[in-house]
Amino acid sequence: MCMNGATVVATPPVLDCCGGFNNVDYSKVDLPVMDKVLGLVDVSDPRFCVAVIAILFNPFFWNVMARWEHRTRGLTRLLGGPYLACYCLGFLILLLNVYRSHSITVAMRAQVRWEMLSSQEVFYLGAALMVLGSVLVVTSFLALGFTGTFLGDYFGILMDQKVTSFPFNVTENPMYWGSTANYLGLALMNASPVGVILTAVVAITYQVAIIFEGPFTENIYRQRAQCCKHK
Ligand SMILES: *[C@@H]1O[C@H](CO)[C@@H](O)[C@H](O)[C@H]1NC(C)=O
Repeated sequence: MCMNGATVVATPPVLDCCGGFNNVDYSKVDLPVMDKVLGLVDVSDPRFCVAVIAILFNPFFWNVMARWEHRTRGLTRLLGGPYLACYCLGFLILLLNVYRSHSITVAMRAQVRWEMLSSQEVFYLGAALMVLGSVLVVTSFLALGFTGTFLGDYFGILMDQKVTSFPFNVTENPMYWGSTANYLGLALMNASPVGVILTAVVAITYQVAIIFEGPFTENIYRQRAQCCKHK
């Protein structure tokens, strides 16, 4: 009963256009489901925190290293050549990615399974996602080569032209989305709510990396185009 006559008027939230993630009307998100997923995940578990840090650290690390190289040629000078420098950084990035996968697996094993996901259908959906993700990752590596995959542009090792063949005709960043699909597949196959949450962290991290890296790489190629025109 409302004795003082006050009424609560629910004003619908104003959504602006082009707001990206901010443009999600959170009042319409199914909160019981969100609560349930988060309720199944122990975010204070150190193994969860290690996995989150590993996920965030990787793109941070390779962007800092690559931009430092691009600005100062520091890695090239340190290792005696752009190719060796690029191969070394690529190898380091691969090791960091192996560690990231390991820490995600450890976090998943440490926490509960979600009964709702423990079905054969979800298991096969996860397996299909892992196949799809692996196809995207492997074919984009084959299309780009080692230096094209591991930031060669920043070392002055430029591609002759933009790769537009499969899988780049399907998505602009097949490596990132393929890797995300792999993690989601792994989480589903293990019926792991913490795996699903960590996959979301991976996806958001890659989305931020794409926004950060895309214009920079385009600029490197624009500079080459201008330089060639002058010759
Ligand atoms: C992408 O290219 C492959 C082969 O190069 C082709 O089979 C496929 O249909 C193309 N996909 C799109 C969406 O254009």
